[in-house]
Amino acid sequence: MRNSTIQINSVQDTKTLALKIARLISSPCAVLLKGQLGSGKTTFTKFLLEELEADTQFFQSPTFPIMLPYESEKFGTLWHIDLYRIESESDLVELYLPEIFSKNICIVEWPQIAENLFYGTRRLFVEFSMNKDGTRTANAGELPT
Ligand SMILES: Nc1ncnc2c1ncn2[C@@H]1O[C@H](COP(=O)(O)OP(=O)(O)O)[C@@H](O)[C@H]1O
Ligand SMILES: [Mg+2]
Repeated sequence: MRNSTIQINSVQDTKTLALKIARLISSPCAVLLKGQLGSGKTTFTKFLLEELEADTQFFQSPTFPIMLPYESEKFGTLWHIDLYRIESESDLVELYLPEIFSKNICIVEWPQIAENLFYGTRRLFVEFSMNKDGTRTANAGELPT
C-alpha cells in the first residue's frame, strides 16, 4: 500500500479504514498506531480485530493491562498492546514483547518506545490526528523492513 491520507468524519470511516488495513495483514506483522490521546486508536483496533475475525466480546482498552490477547481462527492469537505507561525499553523485554512481536500479529498503541524491537517484522502504521472541526485525519501505510 502506498502511504495515504484519509479523512475520517465518523466512526464508520474508522471502520472502513480498518477494513483496508485488515486486507494487508499477514502474520507476523505489527500495526503501529500513533496519535494523541482520544484520537481513535483503540476504536480503530476494535474494528481491526473484528475484520480479522477475532472474538471481541470482552474487548477493552489495554491501557491498564498493557497487553490483551484475542483469538482468531484465521490468524491465531492477535495481541492488542498499549505502551503508553511503559517507561523503559527493558520493561518490554520482561513482557516477552520481542518474542511476541516476531511471531504474532500485534496492534500497538504508543509504539515509539518499542521502535528498536520491530527489526525484521512487517510494520504497517496508522497515525491519527485531530482536526479543529472535530474530524480526524489518518496517515497510513507500510514502513520499509
Ligand atoms: N472516527 C471517530 N469519530 C468520532 N468519534 C470517535 C472516532 N474514533 C474514536 N472516537 C471517540 O473518541 C474517543 C476516544 O477514542 P479512543 O479510540 O479511545 O482513542 P485513543 O485510543 O486514541 O485514546 C472515544 O469516545 C471514541 O468513541
Ligand atoms: Mg487507546
